[in-house]
Amino acid sequence: MKNFVFQNPTKLVFGRGQIARLGKLLPAGARIMVTFGGGSVKRNGVYDQVKAALAGFEHTEFWGIEPNPAVETLRKAVAQGKEFGADFLLAVGGGSVIDGTKLISAAMCYEGDAWELVQKGYYGTTVPIGTVLTLPATGSEMNSGAVISRYETHEKLPFYSHHPRFSILDPEATFTLPRRQIACGIADTFVHVVEQYMTSAGQSRVMDRWAEGILQTLIEIAPKVLTDSTDYDTMADFMLSATMGLNGFIAMGVNEDWATHMIGHELTALHSLTHGATLAIVYNGTLRVLREQKRSKILQYGERVWGICEGDEESRIDAAIARTEEFFSSLGLSTRLSQENIGEESIAEIERRFNACDAHYGECGNVDGAMARKILEACK
Ligand code: NZQ
Ligand code: ZN
Repeated sequence: MKNFVFQNPTKLVFGRGQIARLGKLLPAGARIMVTFGGGSVKRNGVYDQVKAALAGFEHTEFWGIEPNPAVETLRKAVAQGKEFGADFLLAVGGGSVIDGTKLISAAMCYEGDAWELVQKGYYGTTVPIGTVLTLPATGSEMNSGAVISRYETHEKLPFYSHHPRFSILDPEATFTLPRRQIACGIADTFVHVVEQYMTSAGQSRVMDRWAEGILQTLIEIAPKVLTDSTDYDTMADFMLSATMGLNGFIAMGVNEDWATHMIGHELTALHSLTHGATLAIVYNGTLRVLREQKRSKILQYGERVWGICEGDEESRIDAAIARTEEFFSSLGLSTRLSQENIGEESIAEIERRFNACDAHYGECGNVDGAMARKILEACK
C-alpha cells in the first residue's frame, strides 16, 4: 500500500425529507446564490422544498447550467454572484450543476477570466458551497473535482478546488430521472470504481473489497433501477454507491488509472455524447488493449465480481471483458464507436490532442496519443 493522506470534509445528509434541514446547514445570515440546471427540479418538487427551506435567507437564483457545464454560461453566474454579493453557493441538481458551481465559487474570488482557472487546473480560494443532489453518478457532491467545457473550442478539462461543505442526498429527488440518465449514471459510477481498482493486484485488500462491493451492488440493482426509478431503497443504494465511488474512500493507498475518463471527455467535447455513455464505449477498449498490464486484476475481478472461476487464464480474462461489455449493453448503452457514428476523424483528433499536451495517463503513465488511438481502435 502506498502512503496516503485522507481527508473528506463534506457533511453527508442522507434520506427522505432531508432538504428541509437546509436552513440549519447554511451559515446564519448567509447571502446565497442558488444554482440550477434546466428545470427538472421544478417538475419533481425539489425546487419547492429548497424554496421553503430558504425562507428567511437572502438569496438569488441562477438558472441554466447545462449538461457538461460551459464556461460561457458560468461566466454569467460569476457576474450575478458578484453583483449580489453572494457569500455562499447552493448547487441544486446533477453533477453538471455542482461542477459548474465549483468553478463559479473559485472564479468569484479571481480577478481574471474563469477559463484561466480551468487551464491552471486548480484554485484554492473559493466561496463555500453546499449541494442538493438529484442525479447519482459523478460523486461531485463529495469530491473536489469538476469538469468544465468550453463550447467555442470544443474543449473539456478537469478542474479542482474545494469539497462542498455539505451535500443533501434524498433518494426521492431521483425518482423522476429518465431511463437514459440512470443508465449513464450507473455506467459512470461503475467506471469510477474500476478506474481506481483495475490496476495492479495486491495493493490493498480493504480497497479491493470496497470496490468489489460497489461493483456487485451496481450489477444487482441495475435491472431494478432501470425498470422502477421510484423504489426508495434501490435508489438509495444507487445514490450511495455513486457517492462512495468517487469520494476518495476507495482510492486510499492504491494506483489509479483515469485513462478511460480522459478519452471519454474528448468524445463528449467532440460529439456532445453524454459522459457515462462515452465510458461504456471506451472502457472495453481499455481492457482489451491493456489486458497484460491489468492481467492479475482482471482475473481477480472476473472471479470476485462475475464468478468466473472455470477455464485457463486467457479464457477467464476474455470472459471478464465480455461480461463487462454485456453489462453496459444491458443498460441500453452503446459499447462501440460505430454505434454512435464516431470514426477515424475523431480518433485522429484525440490522438493529436493527447500528443499536443504530452498526455501520459493510466496507472503506468503509458496512455499517450498512440495508446489512446489503440484503445479507440479496439472499441470501433
Ligand atoms: O438540467 P436539468 O433540467 O436539471 O436536467 C438534468 C440534465 O438534463 C437531468 N436531471 C438531473 N436530475 C434529474 C434530472 N432529470 C429528471 N429528474 C432528476 N432528478 O439530467 C440531465 C443530466 O444532468 P447532468 O448533471 O449533466 O448529469 P451528471 O450528474 O451525470 O453530470 C455529468 C457531468 O459531470 C462530469 C461529467 O463530465 C459531466 O460534465 N463529471 C464530474 C465528475 C466530478 N465532479 O468528480 C466526475 C465524473 O467522472 C464526470 O466527469
Ligand atoms: Zn465519470
